Amino acid sequence: MNPEMSIRLMSVIEMIPPRAKRVIDVGSDHGKLAVWCLLNNKAPKAVCTDIHKDPAQRTKRALADHMLSERSEVYCTDGLKGVELHKGDVVVMAGLGGNNIIDIMKAAFELTNDDVLHEVTFVLQAQKSIERLRKYLASTGLEIEDEEVCIDRDIFYQMLRCSYSGRPYTLSLREIYYGPKLLAKARQGEEIVKAFHKHLDDIYKIRARGDQEIRQMLQSE
Ligand SMILES: C[S@@+](CC[C@H](N)C(=O)[O-])C[C@H]1O[C@@H](n2cnc3c(N)ncnc32)[C@H](O)[C@@H]1O
Repeated sequence: MNPEMSIRLMSVIEMIPPRAKRVIDVGSDHGKLAVWCLLNNKAPKAVCTDIHKDPAQRTKRALADHMLSERSEVYCTDGLKGVELHKGDVVVMAGLGGNNIIDIMKAAFELTNDDVLHEVTFVLQAQKSIERLRKYLASTGLEIEDEEVCIDRDIFYQMLRCSYSGRPYTLSLREIYYGPKLLAKARQGEEIVKAFHKHLDDIYKIRARGDQEIRQMLQSE
């Protein structure tokens, strides 16, 4: 039976492309994402990591309770340390801070060949510092393929899917702060994205008082 899933986690799962060879859930905690993905054939195999012992054990237990131990591996480790990436992998990082996600990606990129990286997809749902994450993606040559927004218990969450092209690119300040794909969706009239951007407008107006880059971004409209 499927575990009870939050709107946020289901929105993250919807970003996972079809035909993933493995779903790699970094920061797996309760293990629900991997359990759901395996039960619903999002991927034949899952690898889960968590930096803390208790969540790693929770993940292991959740997988065992659903008879999924043979289709999964669980490691107590920092990010992707000790996990070799393969072509066809989808790496999910949800509920982590943007800076943490950047550090995990940087470490993994140092250890992985370019031809493998070209065939790995990343699904990211950062709790904060999304603008820093977008800057990192652009400077590293990770193309943002899609971005989505959901509302879970009155809180907006944004998630994105990206893959490596190896060609760094530039995002405008507005794209960094509002999301290039989300801006396109707002222009197409997607109501949830428009509401999210209105919510960001209010936040950025306050943050602009102490942040020159945000002031500049707001003036560049
Ligand atoms: C807020 S929970 C999110 C759990 C789940 N991914 C979700 O979205 O519901 C964050 C989890 O990430 C783990 N974590 C934080 N930093 C990590 C790192 N560098 N490597 C692996 N796990 C990490 C924490 O121990 C915690 O279990």
